[in-house]
Amino acid sequence: MSLKKTWFGRKKRIDSPEQLMHGQIPQHVAVIMDGNGRWASKRGLPRVAGHHSGMKNVKKITIAADELGIKILTLYAFSTENWKRPKDEVDYIMGLPVEFFPLEIEELVQKNVHIRMTGWKEGVPPHTLEAVENAIERTRHNTGLILNFAFNYGSRKEMTEALRGIARDVKQGVLDPEQIDEQEYAKRLKTSDLPDPDLLIRTSGELRISNFMLWQLAYTELFFTDLYWPEFTEGHFYEAIYEYQQRIRRYGGL
Ligand code: FPP
Repeated sequence: MSLKKTWFGRKKRIDSPEQLMHGQIPQHVAVIMDGNGRWASKRGLPRVAGHHSGMKNVKKITIAADELGIKILTLYAFSTENWKRPKDEVDYIMGLPVEFFPLEIEELVQKNVHIRMTGWKEGVPPHTLEAVENAIERTRHNTGLILNFAFNYGSRKEMTEALRGIARDVKQGVLDPEQIDEQEYAKRLKTSDLPDPDLLIRTSGELRISNFMLWQLAYTELFFTDLYWPEFTEGHFYEAIYEYQQRIRRYGGL
């Protein structure tokens, strides 16, 4: 396990989840799973091989999160901007849920995982939607880890739609502008029933948010690592949680 690649970290090697049990476990962890393409290119493989390997990693990190007692794991799997990619690559990513869910659903059901999707259905091909909706249906009554895929998701679109809803309600006279506060706005976001992420992990060395949960990340702790998503192991995940446990969250206070 490489320690020098973790930025801002306390460089502590965490070999087992038990080492984390004395600290606070974040309730909601969000991940920007970046670097699949570069991981593949570095190995002389087509970019889509990186996405396939990234898909395999989803399972490993989901199980690690569940075992730590994390309540919600949100994974940024496809953004509203990712449609700009070559059609072959988009088609491949749209095929991943079709492969992933039938393969993993039994174990996810058995682990009481509740699958959700945050994003828009428009534009997503029917076979992809069917795979996702089946998985959501199969796990609808599960009460364990919420595995939330941000799929065809973009934060500016989400915030613009929330704003449009408010404008409509004001125009129709059902909302007084004086009633508009943070709660009124947040309840119109797609994540209205989820707590904000406590920790955001971004792999691949990019230091940006990329239109992901811009409102919800207001006080989220950020963790960046140079590692590409397919090479980000459970051990690296534990390191991120350890780093989170060293942070003092002040929310603007003292
Ligand atoms: C970003 O890396 C990754 C994506 C756009 C796709 C992520 C999808 C998965 C990891 C699989 C999701 C699984 C399911 C079941 C939906 P990149 O391609 O931008 O990497 P690069 O920056 O190196 O090019």
